[in-house]
Amino acid sequence: MKTLAGAATALLALALFAQPAVAEGDAAAGKELGYTCLGCHGIEGYRNAYPSYRVPKLGGQKAGYLEIALRGYRDGTRQHPTMEGQAASLSDQDIADVAAYLASIGGDTVAAGGTQGVSFDKAAACTACHGQNGISVNAAWPTLAGQHEDYISHALQQYRDGTRVDPVMGAQAALVAEEDVARLARYFSRLEGLETTKPE
Ligand code: HEC
Ligand code: HEC
Repeated sequence: MKTLAGAATALLALALFAQPAVAEGDAAAGKELGYTCLGCHGIEGYRNAYPSYRVPKLGGQKAGYLEIALRGYRDGTRQHPTMEGQAASLSDQDIADVAAYLASIGGDTVAAGGTQGVSFDKAAACTACHGQNGISVNAAWPTLAGQHEDYISHALQQYRDGTRVDPVMGAQAALVAEEDVARLARYFSRLEGLETTKPE
């Protein structure tokens, strides 16, 4: 518990916005825990059955965001039957460890980013938080670059219809025109960034 308290103090000092205090993650421990996750997240193109969309890429995702997402599933503030089951038995330390492991994958690529000739003017509204190249500027906010196109669309629709609740992103998604959802998803999915976490 001493590490928990220390990490919490350090994070409070760093936090730009009120986020839950976070334990310090151990990537090596997280790798062990992460094996069970590869059954879905480690298979290129693996899909959620209904509605049908590809399971999100997690490799290189921001650790703070991964923790928020996993706590959300575990604590019932983010709904998804399979992921609620996966997160149910994870402690705060497990979550910090697995987040540290996943965030460490593909780090070089993610730091580099790259627009590869794609452009979409309306994406400028998103870059203040999700980064110029879709690489998030804050550990608590998700990187979008390279994420699956259909997953990004699905997530945006969820914020718009209220099935996924987040005050910040809910307000942002409400400003997006229906016809731009697919274009934004296409734009961010084509940037260089996140990776599928493949078993070694
Ligand atoms: C049976 C398939 C399956 C397994 C096993 C699984 N996941 Fe998931 N995971 C999904 C699906 C589907 C989603 C998208 C859910 C949604 O739309 O909210 C998801 C979403 C996530 C997200 C949110 C990503 C984002 O961008 O918001 C995280 C984090 C995550 N999973 C981590 C894990 C971890 C860690 C494990 C192992 C302990 C795991 N998952 C095991 C299917 C799975
Ligand atoms: C003020 C900061 C901010 C802006 C601007 C913003 N977002 Fe977000 N976005 C967030 C935060 C914070 C989250 C995580 C919310 C949560 O935990 O569900 C998020 C989550 C998302 C997700 C879910 C990612 C995942 O892995 O599940 C998508 C997709 C997304 N944003 C797309 C966009 C798009 C497209 C725009 C521009 C139209 C945009 N955002 C503008 C802060 C922002």
